[in-house]
Amino acid sequence: MVTSRTGGTSWLDAAVLYQIYPQSFADSDGDGIGDFAGITERLGHLAWLGVNTVWINPCFVSPFRDAGYDVSDHFTVAPRYGTADDLAVLVEAARGHGIRVLLDLVAGHTSDEHPWFLHSADDPSDHRYIWTDGGAAPRGFVPSPGSRPGAYLPNFFESQPALNFGYAREKEGQPWRQPVDAEGPRANRAALREIMDHWLRLGFAGFRVDMASSLVKDDPGLRETARLWTELRGWLDRAHPEAVIMAEWGDPAVSVPAGFHVDFFLQFGGETDGLAMRSLWNNGQGTVLEHWDPLDCFFDAGGGGSPRPFVEAWREATRVIGGPGHVSLPTSNHDFARLACGARTREQLPAAFVLQMTWPTLPAIYYGDEIGMRFVPGLPDVEGSRLGPRYNRAGSRTPMQWDAGPNAGFSTAAADRLYLPLDPDPDRPDVASQRADPDSLLNLVRRLIALRAAAPELRGGGDVEILDDGFPFAYVRGGRYLVVVNPRREPATLPLPRPELAAARPVERAGVTMNADSVTAAAFSYGIFECGGPGNAAAP
Ligand code: NOJ
Repeated sequence: MVTSRTGGTSWLDAAVLYQIYPQSFADSDGDGIGDFAGITERLGHLAWLGVNTVWINPCFVSPFRDAGYDVSDHFTVAPRYGTADDLAVLVEAARGHGIRVLLDLVAGHTSDEHPWFLHSADDPSDHRYIWTDGGAAPRGFVPSPGSRPGAYLPNFFESQPALNFGYAREKEGQPWRQPVDAEGPRANRAALREIMDHWLRLGFAGFRVDMASSLVKDDPGLRETARLWTELRGWLDRAHPEAVIMAEWGDPAVSVPAGFHVDFFLQFGGETDGLAMRSLWNNGQGTVLEHWDPLDCFFDAGGGGSPRPFVEAWREATRVIGGPGHVSLPTSNHDFARLACGARTREQLPAAFVLQMTWPTLPAIYYGDEIGMRFVPGLPDVEGSRLGPRYNRAGSRTPMQWDAGPNAGFSTAAADRLYLPLDPDPDRPDVASQRADPDSLLNLVRRLIALRAAAPELRGGGDVEILDDGFPFAYVRGGRYLVVVNPRREPATLPLPRPELAAARPVERAGVTMNADSVTAAAFSYGIFECGGPGNAAAP
């Protein structure tokens, strides 16, 4: 168990994270694919918006069968994004804007083109990966592509062989189940430290860790996997006390006590398989796994959903974490539909951002969500984006829409050379138009970030008093800010539980009105009201 998690990472308390999908953000050299120099040129936008932490998806050498999550050299950047110097310029320029940069650590697997794997596929004495000795490949294994007999275990696609971190349990007749302290698993744990150390020394602030729960196999309760991360965290605290690790795990109650500074609420993970997140806003069309039940989510216009599964999961995670450590609430990410997806329209998005920026979770904005970019259906399968008949991640990975010019200002390449096609909607939103419009989503998000930065009561970890967890959803943060959101089409009314709340001053609002004894929230409305300073009359 990690006992102290504050160290030099208290900067996380005020963090607003922005996720950049590098191939789709900004193309500086006109080849149709985003790059480091493009990101550097656009750091001004991020600074203007107010975000202070950026996570860049994997940008290392790769055959790109899974868009870079198939790393074939952890120490070298993919030429399509530029050079090591370009990345150094990026991180330095970001620092100048007060922005920390996180990289993506793909911990559980490599590409099948990684030299480690090529060697392992020819050398039966190598145990960096999980190999059978020979014979027919057991279920889930893939026949060896090399001179080595037997088969290997993949971690995601077949082109992503699982690194060997051992098994929590042995089983008769399965000699590939090595203990977690065998030579291969120890070498892989050392390799993770080496990779992290390399990038942290170059000025990066930490990592988002891909499939962090996948490392030790057949691991009931993920206890051995947690132990591994606790060990790594111990090393990190000693070697790089300001660095942070953010888990792609989806179960903060397990991952944070294991040593992660942050875990994301995701559409999967934990005992409820991501119910908290899916029930909130991200069960829209386009990225649906077949075993997921159709679900009314809270941000569906029909009003069939509820914020309760989200609130309960957050409460439980916070109770178990019990101290420093964060749950991050993303707007979406590169694996799931955006906030604007399916039947959900842009008029529904402001309330979602009001909730995200006033809840005690750590907000993560997926690039383009701040202007309401939508999930684009019907795209081709690009670099492994398609995961099933109703699941194509490409729809969330389209080029950033910067302005109303050609290619939305993303690239000067011919349209048919872009990494993915742009959203063909003639009304697609863009940054330039929204910057010029004080009533735009972008300007609202900017004001919300500024409000969060100025008001400690709104930051992560503070308290929340829920007044009503139906429609409208209403709560008070730190005794000071009353927040009201109504994500459905039908208006909603709430009797004011305390008359003094009626005197609260609106800070941001659209469609929410108050009289002496009730709050009325129009369709898709929101309001943030200031009740006064800490210890004011409105505090319970
Ligand atoms: C999770 C990543 O977010 C996803 O994009 C990737 O395909 C898998 N892990 C495999 O690395």
